[in-house]
Amino acid sequence: MTADLVLANAKAYVNKEIVDCSLAIDRGKIFKIGKETTMPKAEAKTDLKKLLVLPGLIDAHVHLRDEGKAYKEDFRTGTAAAAAGGITTVLDMPNNNPVTMSVATLRERIRIAEKKILVNVGFYSEFPESMNKIGVIAKEGAVAFKLFMAEQMGGLNIDDDHALLEAFQTISKLKLLVAVHAEDKKALEKSRSELKKTNRNDVNAYLMAHSENVEVKAMKRLLKIVEKTKARIHFCHVSTENGLKTIMDGKKAGLPLTCEVTPHHLLLSAEDFRSVGTLALTMPPVREERHIKALWNGVKNGWVDIIASDHAPHALEEKKADSIWDVKVGVPGLETMLPLLLTEVNRGSLTIADVVRLTSERPAEIFNLKENGSLREGGNADLTVVDLKKKYVIDASKFCSKAKHSPFDGWKVRGKPVKTFVFGRLIMDDGEIVAKAGSGRIIRRGAAS
Ligand code: DOR
Ligand code: ZN
Ligand code: ZN
Repeated sequence: MTADLVLANAKAYVNKEIVDCSLAIDRGKIFKIGKETTMPKAEAKTDLKKLLVLPGLIDAHVHLRDEGKAYKEDFRTGTAAAAAGGITTVLDMPNNNPVTMSVATLRERIRIAEKKILVNVGFYSEFPESMNKIGVIAKEGAVAFKLFMAEQMGGLNIDDDHALLEAFQTISKLKLLVAVHAEDKKALEKSRSELKKTNRNDVNAYLMAHSENVEVKAMKRLLKIVEKTKARIHFCHVSTENGLKTIMDGKKAGLPLTCEVTPHHLLLSAEDFRSVGTLALTMPPVREERHIKALWNGVKNGWVDIIASDHAPHALEEKKADSIWDVKVGVPGLETMLPLLLTEVNRGSLTIADVVRLTSERPAEIFNLKENGSLREGGNADLTVVDLKKKYVIDASKFCSKAKHSPFDGWKVRGKPVKTFVFGRLIMDDGEIVAKAGSGRIIRRGAAS
């Protein structure tokens, strides 16, 4: 047989170790991993010159926008940013215009995305108004559901405990997964309005409003519902010491929980927020050292399941305002996540095994992406080639994302994604996008690929 492509003279993370090998790729799948002499003939051959091949990254928390928010980001620019950042699969959040929360809105999003995407994209749905629609939305292909607890976003009344219980009963029965933004709406509204009354509109006021307690309160409320329903919950962007402790206690008690942290919560402090200003404004915010330490501990000892970017692009003008309450929250993260993590590998605070576990293996398990998450014969040829030694300075003005700003702008990093393959096709080569829009694939829940 003649394979489509052989990647020769590589290093690759296979079966939990880095090995010298070549990889043969055929019809989008990894056909063979082994010594160069064992490779089949191939249409094309690339000498990787000992660069390291990792399973393509899966970013489970991305806001691709498009539709009514296309001025912030669209499917092409967002997935170009993913490919540039070494990410081969992204899961798209539902807080769009219109909100993704029905079969019709999901179908329309998929229709628009199909022609534009450069990497694989799966979709979250918010809860619909009628809970008996959860099943049909899942059937339509939503990878998971999202519950935003900080303000009313979807069709489920988040102030109503009974409605929440019913929704989670359905989720449990259908064996679905809910990703949760855990900040308590009522506690948040109360602290925010008290601060506004005293004309507080600065960075510290924002930190006070989005307190540790606001996060913990939402988590505890939900854990009571999980105890009753056994619904699977994934906590997004855990940001506090007690937030992580609450999840750890739930896990120890046997509840079906997983959780994520972001690079910004690991690498930026409240002090950085005060000096960088609103370009570092996210929700939940970056925090004091005590929390950062706890998150790092969680990453190292395995309590944290995944790292995701929470790529949340906004126009530059939206990131500035006289009052902090008027600034749009969120930072672009697709193009900085892997370089920042590889920099931590070079510093010795993470290993390659940690990075692969947190950004490929565990996300694939949690979101049931069976053909992805590791390099193995027969698996999808979604690959990220990295140059671990490459030093460079993050330059947000060069981002593929429409959001050409970042709190990490100007940071010196070491370790760079240099090639991204999606289903065997080269999408990014040395920072350039080399594939056509539409090269990526839509991921549907439960569908074989
Ligand atoms: O920082 C954030 N940005 N947090 C959110 O919860 C929403 C997100 C966005 O969509 O911009
Ligand atoms: Zn969120
Ligand atoms: Zn988000």
